[in-house]
Amino acid sequence: MPSLSVARSSVAAFQPGYVPVAVFVGGTSGVGQAMAEALVLQLKGRVHIVLIGRNEGAARRILDGFPKPTTGDGWKHEFVRCNVESMKSARAVCHELKGRLAALNFLVVTAGGPRANSLTEAGVTEEGLDDHLATRYFARYLFTKELLPLLKTAEATGQHAHVMTVLGAGFGFGIARDDLMLDQARKASWAFLHGLTIKIAAMKAMMRGVTYNDGLVAHFASANPSIAFTHIMPGQVWTEGAQYVDLGWALYPLAVLLNGLRRTLMVIPQEDCAQYMLHALLSPENDRGGVFIRGDHGDVIGAHVFPPHVHNTWAEGDSRTGYLHGVRIKGYGGADATVVKLIRWTEEVLSGIE
Ligand SMILES: NC(=O)c1ccc[n+]([C@@H]2O[C@H](COP(=O)([O-])OP(=O)(O)OC[C@H]3O[C@@H](n4cnc5c(N)ncnc54)[C@H](OP(=O)(O)O)[C@@H]3O)[C@@H](O)[C@H]2O)c1
Repeated sequence: MPSLSVARSSVAAFQPGYVPVAVFVGGTSGVGQAMAEALVLQLKGRVHIVLIGRNEGAARRILDGFPKPTTGDGWKHEFVRCNVESMKSARAVCHELKGRLAALNFLVVTAGGPRANSLTEAGVTEEGLDDHLATRYFARYLFTKELLPLLKTAEATGQHAHVMTVLGAGFGFGIARDDLMLDQARKASWAFLHGLTIKIAAMKAMMRGVTYNDGLVAHFASANPSIAFTHIMPGQVWTEGAQYVDLGWALYPLAVLLNGLRRTLMVIPQEDCAQYMLHALLSPENDRGGVFIRGDHGDVIGAHVFPPHVHNTWAEGDSRTGYLHGVRIKGYGGADATVVKLIRWTEEVLSGIE
């Protein structure tokens, strides 16, 4: 596992011969903000940064703090508003970006949101998606799929091309086979059990988001083997959105204990986490593309770089968790059978939201 100073020096070595374009979905606070800030600082502002989120005031304050190069050779620092709970909004933003960006080097998705950290709520969005899964999975899938043409252009011209989803990599839990949207999990058969049912559903949704992200990176990496797709765990980071776990009034004492523990254990400031995440994002290990499952120091837990011409060979009958096209990947929760099913379902759900 790299130390903080190793991570810092690898970030400090990043000096691309072009002006990179980096989109941070969730760049207005937390890990995404800190990653954007560190990248801008490293490149002395000579980078095109797109911060995506809802809070324009926060975005403006962050953008104002960025160093500005004196020469105008393609750098830009901007905010694009989007509520990523809505797939319609996410799609519209991607469409707009595709219309004006020539290429994209880094797509980093961190948006989880306070609601996604809540264990007392498990509802559905206006578009009918489980609201935890909307930000933790569907939006990430959509941004990746929609912005892929821009990443392919970057890769084809020899530039970096990397998609990173920051969530909870490395657990290797299997992907669920049924009730993928958790509709059953949210249903309480007894009214007095409703609160408990919702907590269980919320917890399940948080776990599902993690495993679905393993499926997401495996799917896109397999279809685009020369681009890097990473699912990474940020660790316990003291960010605005992750300071409090709400368990509801009935479990208030447990929440106090848990939040106290988190406060004691969440020793990683978001700036340090950003160095580890950037170390992983910029590492030369990604240059040949592939799928990467990484830990909170940016370390590779498991990875697969596809041999030339051997990719997209899904074995639908293979339900062994941790195996991608017959290859065992440590920390990976997918199985060919479950990933194929997950992606078919995702496409079906998203095609119903126009
Ligand atoms: N922090 C931890 O200890 C920890 C531990 C394990 C896993 N994780 C996961 O790692 C990721 C990064 O962590 P974090 O603490 O930085 O996450 P976070 O606090 O949820 O991220 C905040 C960012 O997400 C954006 N966001 C949230 N909901 C949004 C929405 N509906 N539409 C648009 N943007 C939205 C916020 O933008 P606006 O406010 O501008 O909308 C902000 O830019 C998250 O997915 C989190 O679940 C974090």
